[in-house]
Amino acid sequence: MTGETSLEELPDHVRRNRAEWDRWAADYVANGERSWRLRPGDETWGIWDIPEATLHLLPDDLDGLDTIELGCGTGYVSAWLARRGAHPVGIDNSEAQLATARRLQAEHGIEFALIHGNAENVPLQDASFDLAISEYGASIWADPYRWVPEAARLLRPGGRLIFLVNGTILTLASPDTEEEPATERLVRPYFGLHRLEWDEDDSVSFYLGYGDWIRLLRANDFEVEDLLELQPAEDASTTYPFVTLGWARRWPSEEVWKARKRG
Ligand SMILES: C[S@@+](CC[C@H](N)C(=O)[O-])C[C@H]1O[C@@H](n2cnc3c(N)ncnc32)[C@H](O)[C@@H]1O
Repeated sequence: MTGETSLEELPDHVRRNRAEWDRWAADYVANGERSWRLRPGDETWGIWDIPEATLHLLPDDLDGLDTIELGCGTGYVSAWLARRGAHPVGIDNSEAQLATARRLQAEHGIEFALIHGNAENVPLQDASFDLAISEYGASIWADPYRWVPEAARLLRPGGRLIFLVNGTILTLASPDTEEEPATERLVRPYFGLHRLEWDEDDSVSFYLGYGDWIRLLRANDFEVEDLLELQPAEDASTTYPFVTLGWARRWPSEEVWKARKRG
């Protein structure tokens, strides 16, 4: 299925991120394969592989729920939801990422709809889902002032929105290159935090301050239920260069927002 708008009609950041993610997709195949193999109770989140059993990011009972993953990449989060009884749909801006997702669906015998499109403009009806979820997907690569209203439109009353993003303090402490780890100083302003571009590539990503997140969620009929500030285990490791374990043990390098659409 496709949510295609012509390339020229896509917002600049969506067009640029599509080109970059089509280029990066090959580097994400191994992680996709590994993550697809994780069984209920063994799932892990984020760059430090924090266990679901520790975080409780997912709702307890997913059985029969309609879910949409916004920026599903290789689709492993949706595969986890399917194994827990949900009916997932995934949307992603990169055809190359979706090619991996489709191959892994076939290998694991878990089929769900995959849409090639922009999570800021999803070609599906209002109030079709009980849960919208994003792990470093639309949650950081799409404009929150576009994708949050779209998530609100897609959710039924009482539906949940759960998304994982880079920690706000991490963003403030990160130099313009993602190849260097976060410093122990604030190197960019907090006020006005929104769209960021990095030195080494053509991608665009998005970050908000806490007040802006709360106001945006509430303006779109969400009640904020929780903000999890993730701390990796003492022996955790990551392949990503932008933060060290020592840093992430002291400050939150990842955050999970949980919100619920007013009923
Ligand atoms: C780090 S991956 C996260 C997905 C998944 N957790 C994974 O690791 O495979 C980021 C994904 O967001 C997708 N993405 C970026 N901008 C998007 C947009 N506007 N709409 C939908 N997906 C988007 C990218 O194509 C990429 O596959």
